[in-house]
Amino acid sequence: MSKFLNNYWYVAANSEELKDRPIARIILGNPIVLFRGKSGKIGALDDRCAHRLTPLSLGRIDGDQLECGYHGWTYDCAGKCVRLPGLETPQKITVKSFPLVEKWGWVFIWMGDPDKADNNTLPDFHVMGEDKWVGDGGMLRVEAHCDLIRDNLLDLTHAKYTHKQTLATEDVDRVPVTAERVGDLVRVKRVMKNIQPSPFFARAVGYTQNIIHRQTTEFTPGCNIVIRLRGNSSPGTSENLKNGFRVLNAMTPETGTSTHYFWWLGRDYNQENTSLTQWMKDANARTFLEDKTVLEGQQRNITSQPTQQPVPSPADKGLTLAAKLTEELLQGEAE
Ligand SMILES: [Fe+2]
Repeated sequence: MSKFLNNYWYVAANSEELKDRPIARIILGNPIVLFRGKSGKIGALDDRCAHRLTPLSLGRIDGDQLECGYHGWTYDCAGKCVRLPGLETPQKITVKSFPLVEKWGWVFIWMGDPDKADNNTLPDFHVMGEDKWVGDGGMLRVEAHCDLIRDNLLDLTHAKYTHKQTLATEDVDRVPVTAERVGDLVRVKRVMKNIQPSPFFARAVGYTQNIIHRQTTEFTPGCNIVIRLRGNSSPGTSENLKNGFRVLNAMTPETGTSTHYFWWLGRDYNQENTSLTQWMKDANARTFLEDKTVLEGQQRNITSQPTQQPVPSPADKGLTLAAKLTEELLQGEAE
């Protein structure tokens, strides 16, 4: 449970986190310092000064450079030591740096082979950059392996039991899912016809009568999930409302038993309603705290009894496909 897929982009931070101070973050087991220079340039380095191995995150930003808080050794965004107090030009000293791409309000990091880092292979979170979609997001640290969060999102039947106040729909565990793998993507679908809307749908859209509720969840590696939700008033009801939601989920392993969970929730209607955006964000943040409780308890049980195998349910088809895909890719990276 502590192997990670290395050759993928992971979200390292929200853009707005990188301000006037360096931040420390463990990513795929490696202590990393992230910082934004005065010009806006960003850097990710091993959080360890070459001199006395002090965390560089304890230092300060000086222009576009990072100065160690111990003896003032200073590094640029590429990890090159550009100032070593007492010496003329410290040409050959570097700390490891990591490729970064900043897009859609997120900062993506590449922890694998730097020669394989390709800016065109970011996870597909493009809706965050489209005017049609309006939303907001957050970040949550969960003390559970990223695969457990992946599995949580690939089986939305848990909404009925974990999220009674928000996402619960009575029919969710009665309607079977279809699951398929298309290349390196796993897709799970469920269409619930003529059902009572969830409390979240009722409040966010205004439904009072039954709806058709479509859920599509797509997993792509490293560990990303895009959920597309769509509701339409049921034919024969007096309402004619429809809407689309996207839930973007980027799980960045911290350690084998903890994850930085970045998320974004957007909608494609009533875009100018900022109080609705705030309400949706707050409701989702509360909902994910319910998941956190379940996931962390699950991780504690797995850690204490690692040999016990889970018993699968019919709704686990997507989980099985995603686990198999991840295992194949891990083996590929190991070879
Ligand atoms: Fe959940």
